[in-house]
Amino acid sequence: MAKSKFIPLKMYREYSTKTMNKRARDFYLEMKRRRSVRQFSNRPVPLEIIENCIRVAGTAPSGANMQPWHFVVVKDADLKTKIRIAAEEVENEFYHRRAHREQLQVFSDLGTDAHKPFLEEAPYLIVIFARRYYLGSDGEKVKHYYVGESVGIATGLLITAIHHAGLVALTYTPSPMNFLTKILNRPAEEKPFMIVAAGYPAKNAVVPDISKKSLVEIVTFK
Ligand SMILES: Cc1cc2nc3c(=O)[nH]c(=O)nc-3n(C[C@H](O)[C@H](O)[C@H](O)COP(=O)(O)O)c2cc1C
Repeated sequence: MAKSKFIPLKMYREYSTKTMNKRARDFYLEMKRRRSVRQFSNRPVPLEIIENCIRVAGTAPSGANMQPWHFVVVKDADLKTKIRIAAEEVENEFYHRRAHREQLQVFSDLGTDAHKPFLEEAPYLIVIFARRYYLGSDGEKVKHYYVGESVGIATGLLITAIHHAGLVALTYTPSPMNFLTKILNRPAEEKPFMIVAAGYPAKNAVVPDISKKSLVEIVTFK
């Protein structure tokens, strides 16, 4: 990698403490309204919104700035059907053979089962791939650093951006997911990481009545 040149930090914006407090609180209140939604409307969403959400994801920090991610935006109905059929095959195997009783209970509490109609209903499936290495100038494999951490952060920013834009999303992780490599024709260095379905919620969408841990439960100040 070429040595970096250094430039002044022009992007930083300083706020008064009062403004910072308000911004932090307002952002918390906005993010508190985010929910994973499993029922989507077929109302179309302009692609430009999704493009900007992916731009947000692309601003994520990453190990050595290697940006080891690739986003495939699926809007084609036939491809979505292929993904649903393949995902349901994997899910059937999981629900009927591999899942433990406790796992089945958790999923039943969340109202999920082996059927994944949202994979066809959502206007967009954003399939995130983690790039494990890149090919150097001599065709040799050069490993990316902290791939899982970096792609996880980028995906978090993507989900945040989708919510901020006024849409809903579902983080979906069928296991195994290698069918996505084949259906989407991705290269060997990429490993499917997650599917984020995005769109408007269905008119009568419901979500499980769950809560988040309080601040004292998730933080220790020293
Ligand atoms: C890594 C990860 C994997 C997930 N996988 C699935 C999934 O396969 N199917 C699903 O319906 N929800 C999935 N979810 C969504 C969670 O069930 C959901 O985030 C959780 O129940 C909390 O609900 P909330 O997102 O509305 O706060 C996943 C979330 C994460 C972060």
